[in-house]
Amino acid sequence: MIPGPDGKPVAADCGQPEVLSIQEIHDVVGEFAHAAKLAMQAGFDGVEIHGANGYLLDQFRCPAVNNRNDAYGGSLANRYRLLLEVVDAVDAVAAHVAPERIAVRQSPYGQGNGMVADPEPLKTYPWLARELNQRGIGFLHIYCQTIDWIHDATHSMMPALRDSFHGGLIACGGFKTPAACEAILARGHADLIAIGKPFISNPDLVERLRRDAPLAKWDAASFYGGGERGYTDYPALSQKSALA
Ligand SMILES: Cc1cc2nc3c(=O)[nH]c(=O)nc-3n(C[C@H](O)[C@H](O)[C@H](O)COP(=O)(O)O)c2cc1C
Repeated sequence: MIPGPDGKPVAADCGQPEVLSIQEIHDVVGEFAHAAKLAMQAGFDGVEIHGANGYLLDQFRCPAVNNRNDAYGGSLANRYRLLLEVVDAVDAVAAHVAPERIAVRQSPYGQGNGMVADPEPLKTYPWLARELNQRGIGFLHIYCQTIDWIHDATHSMMPALRDSFHGGLIACGGFKTPAACEAILARGHADLIAIGKPFISNPDLVERLRRDAPLAKWDAASFYGGGERGYTDYPALSQKSALA
């Protein structure tokens, strides 16, 4: 999204996507590795490779979008080849990024940004999880865009990932209360919770969760606005009581 003429966010016109040549794919892999190296040099604790939400690596995974007939299209192994080459390249700069400090993000069932829901999700995502597990990758970060199945104790996806991946499993999407976080941790279906929107409207979210204090609701109208309003101006509890 970019600010439109009236300042409101609009989708940027990106033009018709083009098929990457093999050389361009190699360049992409190199760019990920270079970025990871710079991040670690800058003092990051680790890097997360974003393979979710319809971004480039997810486009390769999605069989409805990936129509290549070379080594990067067709079979599941081929469609995940680019992501795993990126993982291996990031890992190869091992002096900078040890495998346990690498995370990979996925969004099973996701249809955001033009993706079509995976036809075999319980085959696809555990397959990747096993590949990451073999490589000793530290974290698999699972984002549920629709905030439904990840909270359903009877749903098969998180247990299937748990069986396939023995590193840290991060669950994300719609975790708004300590109870919701504790429930999935107690089931053993995740080790960590990632939180987005509540963090925007509660700069002291961790402290509020610790104290079971009420959470401020976010204002979705200020998302993607381009300015600081709605991002840095929500008060912390201490500021609120000072104001009162
Ligand atoms: C304002 C805003 C912008 C976001 N931008 C992106 C983005 O550019 N790419 C992406 O993959 N996810 C994006 N997300 C999703 C977050 O990364 C995160 O997965 C999500 O907010 C977590 O769910 P929760 O907000 O229910 O905790 C965005 C979320 C918000 C609220």
